[in-house]
Amino acid sequence: MERTLVIIKPDAVEKGATGKILDRFVVEGFEIRALKMFRFTEEQAKQFYIVHRERPFYGELVEFMTSGPVVAAVLEGEDAVRRVREIIGPTDSEEARKVAPGSIRALFGTDKGRNAVHASDSRESADYEIPFIFSALEIV
Ligand code: RTP
Ligand code: MG
Repeated sequence: MERTLVIIKPDAVEKGATGKILDRFVVEGFEIRALKMFRFTEEQAKQFYIVHRERPFYGELVEFMTSGPVVAAVLEGEDAVRRVREIIGPTDSEEARKVAPGSIRALFGTDKGRNAVHASDSRESADYEIPFIFSALEIV
């Protein structure tokens, strides 16, 4: 079984979509192995998204991710990384509404920056991101 990290971003938490988003993953057959709400500090958000440090949107991304509480979950299931990315849809929520209308970003996101959820994009990313957010004791 594969594990992946999902973060419900500040925009989706603020609009009260946490329960609906988590339920979608459960309905899709994933097991929740870890779950918590917290607010990133600037340093933590920078470190979490360190691969994007050279990108023009890095500052905006860190500002957004620290703007309010998030809810992070470890999801487990067959082919979890690929399937969760498919369920969340493309990065840009407006594009998602065109090409993947049932996706989480289509339903709960606003645009390219405020896109409701993060999900690990590879096994390697999941291996960095899961222990970044959860200690071994917090994963069941
Ligand atoms: P994520 O890492 O959050 O799951 O999103 P992703 O893989 O679909 O997209 P990625 O390229 O990794 O970008 C990370 C996050 O940065 C923000 N972003 N803003 N304004 C922009 O052009 C722009 N591009 C990306 C988004 O919040 C995106 O999810
Ligand atoms: Mg990404």
